[in-house]
Amino acid sequence: MKLKDRVAIVTGAARGIGKAIAWVFVREGAKVALVDVEKAGLEALQKEIERGEGRAVAVSCDVSKASEVKGMVERVKGTYGRIDILVNNAGIIRRGTIETVTEEDWDRVMEVNLKGPFNCSRAVVETMKGQGYGRIVNVSSIAGKMGDITSAPGYGPSKAGLDALSKTLARQLAPYGIHVNGVAPHAIETEMSAEWLPERRKAIIDAIPLKRLGRPEDVAETVLFLASDAAAFITGEIIDVNGGFLMD
Ligand SMILES: NC(=O)c1ccc[n+]([C@@H]2O[C@H](COP(=O)([O-])OP(=O)(O)OC[C@H]3O[C@@H](n4cnc5c(N)ncnc54)[C@H](O)[C@@H]3O)[C@@H](O)[C@H]2O)c1
Repeated sequence: MKLKDRVAIVTGAARGIGKAIAWVFVREGAKVALVDVEKAGLEALQKEIERGEGRAVAVSCDVSKASEVKGMVERVKGTYGRIDILVNNAGIIRRGTIETVTEEDWDRVMEVNLKGPFNCSRAVVETMKGQGYGRIVNVSSIAGKMGDITSAPGYGPSKAGLDALSKTLARQLAPYGIHVNGVAPHAIETEMSAEWLPERRKAIIDAIPLKRLGRPEDVAETVLFLASDAAAFITGEIIDVNGGFLMD
C-alpha cells in the first residue's frame, strides 16, 4: 500500500475527480478527510468507504472561507492526529466571454479555485512543518497553460495562478520536507464536462492523440503518484493528464 496510515485531506470530494482521488487513497491505505460544500454527497461517500472497511471522515466546508477551512483542519487533526497530504481539488467553472462574464463570476472563480488552495495550504502548513513531512497536490487545468475558449476569462487565470502558487510554495516549503506539485487535466468525464454537446465532445476527442476523454481515475492515479513516496525527488512540478493534447 502506497499511503498506509497517511492522513489525507481531499477537497471537492463529493463527486467527480475528487471522489476518484478519495477512493484511490483509501485503496492505498490512507485515512481520508472528505471535504466539500455538498454535504449529502460527502456523507454518502463516507458511508460507502466505511462499508468497504476504509477510513474516512466527512467535513462540510467552503474552501473559499478561511474561517471554515481553519475549523475543518482542526477537526481532521482532532480525528486523526496528523495531516500528511492535502489535495486541493475543489474547483468551479463559469462559461462566457470578456463581455458577458459578471464581476461576481470572476470573483467567485478566483475565490474557490485560487484562494481556496491558498486557505487550505496555509491551514495545514504548521502541522506539516511540525511533522517534517507533507505533500500538497493542486488540481489545476490545461486552461492555466493554454487559456480556453469556452470558459469565462477567470477560469484559466485562476489555474495559472494556482500553478504559480504550487511553485512558490514548493520553493518556500522544501526545507521542511513539504513537497508541492500539481496536475493539469484536460477533458475529464465529470459533471463539469457533462454540458458538452455531442459535436463539441467529438471535436475534443478527435484532437486528443489517445482518442478518448479522460476518466477521473486517470487524474487520481497521477495525484496518488505525487502524494506518495514514489515522487520523493519531485517538487514544483505540474504534470499534464491530457491524453497527449498538449505536450509541453
Ligand atoms: N472535468 C474536467 O474536464 C477538468 C479539466 C481540468 C481541470 N479540472 C479541475 O478538476 C477539479 C475537479 O473537477 P471535476 O470535474 O471533478 O468537477 P465537479 O464539478 O464534478 O466537482 C467539483 C467538486 O468541488 C466542490 N466544490 C465546489 N466549490 C466548492 C467550495 N467552495 N468548497 C468546497 N468544495 C467545493 C463541488 O461541490 C464538487 O463536489 C476542479 O478543480 C477542476 O477545475 C477538471
